[in-house]
This record gives sequence, C-alpha cells and structure tokens, in this order.
Amino acid sequence: MRDAAPVAMSDTTPTPKIPSPDKLCCYCLGVTYGEVEQVVREHGCRTVEEVTRRCRAGGGCRSCHVDILDVLERVRREDGAGLLARLLRRLGFGRSTTR
Ligand code: FES
Repeated sequence: MRDAAPVAMSDTTPTPKIPSPDKLCCYCLGVTYGEVEQVVREHGCRTVEEVTRRCRAGGGCRSCHVDILDVLERVRREDGAGLLARLLRRLGFGRSTTR
C-alpha cells in the first residue's frame, strides 16, 4: 500500500474570477457586468431588486440573479476592505501607500 502524496496547502483563498465589464450579465435585458457594478457602486444597491430598478438587469427570466448577487457581494467585500484599510491607516497601523 502506498502512502498518500502530501497535499500542498495554500495559505490564501483563491480569488474568484471577475467577469469582464463588457461581458453580458443579464442576457434578457442586455446589461453588462460593468453596468451592474456601476449602479451598485453609484447608487449603493444592496439587493437584486434595487439593481433591477436602476438598470433593468434581472427583470426577465431571473437566471442572472445569482450573477448579480456575486457582483453585490464582491463590491460589498471590496468596500469593506477599503473601509478597514482607511480606518487602520487613520489609527496609525499599516503602511501608507502613495499610488
Ligand atoms: S438573464 Fe437576466 S433576467 Fe434573464
């Protein structure tokens, strides 16, 4: 009997692939991922229904709702990470970046 080969453990969580902004998110209404992300960021949408009201994405067959939820979750995470980084810098933790 052979021993199992050691499994390499990653110390980072894989980053989900972010669709191109030009790619269609909602085929029924012809709305791209970029347009969905734009309304989420500009209007602070928190639900699929709010996104649908702003740009019509999700207002047809609803099969794109899971994709809209992915965009909502990604923006929420990015906003949360940005807020935490700004707070930590303000409190004197971490590096200041000049990009
Ligand atoms: S693909 Fe978005 S409602 Fe049908």
